[in-house]
Amino acid sequence: MRLIVTEDYEELSAAAAGWIADRIATRPDGCFIPATGDTPMGGYARLTEVLAVRDLDASRLRIVQLDEYLGLPAGDPRLLYGWMERSLLEPLAIPAAHVVAFDSAAYDPVASCRTVDEAIVAAGGADFTVLGLGPNGHLGFNEPPADADAPTRVIELTPESIHSNAVYWGGEDRVPRRAMTVGMNRLLAARAILLLVSGESKRSILHRTLSGPATPEVPSSYLQSADGVTIIADRAAWGDQPVPVAFGG
Ligand code: PGA
Repeated sequence: MRLIVTEDYEELSAAAAGWIADRIATRPDGCFIPATGDTPMGGYARLTEVLAVRDLDASRLRIVQLDEYLGLPAGDPRLLYGWMERSLLEPLAIPAAHVVAFDSAAYDPVASCRTVDEAIVAAGGADFTVLGLGPNGHLGFNEPPADADAPTRVIELTPESIHSNAVYWGGEDRVPRRAMTVGMNRLLAARAILLLVSGESKRSILHRTLSGPATPEVPSSYLQSADGVTIIADRAAWGDQPVPVAFGG
């Protein structure tokens, strides 16, 4: 595991864009599982420019959606698909045919989860994923308790996630109570994993992720034993202490 601590969110975002561009350079047709949420947005916003400077083309990537609320109709502004589309697919000119997504309005959500999971398996596993860190240690919507083998599935949001997602949609009553997520099993097996962590409110869960026991109560703690993990945290999230040598500091 490699930990990079940046001075601020701007620098975190620049580093994230560089990391994603490196992955695209290595595998232009790779399978990418991108998070929505606030933290990756700065990196995604910079990516188009970084790719242009490096003469890289992202339009051949194959995208698998990380997570989605359950039960929203097509066109609902809260669909995480729409957020991914605006922030990533459209700027990178990734055609819809290259995207496998959950169907929020699915009559059979289990089948929708199976479709997404099978796409990852068919790709030979994810080449790379960009993740945010939930205040409860969730990755995607792998809500605690979730162990390292937790599969792609339907979940109930925990009160903590309902609370943290409320900032996106203007209140807890606007947050759907159920969701679908790519499983811990697929995320931890990705060939490269980027976890982005910003802000003082994430400090406690970041330190539990890195140095607490690996436990289903903190799903992100399983990153400790996964391969190919890079964590980029800003100073507000990490704190003032030096980065331990064990993390590449
Ligand atoms: P955030 O969300 O990037 O908006 O903080 C992270 C998460 O809850 O997974």
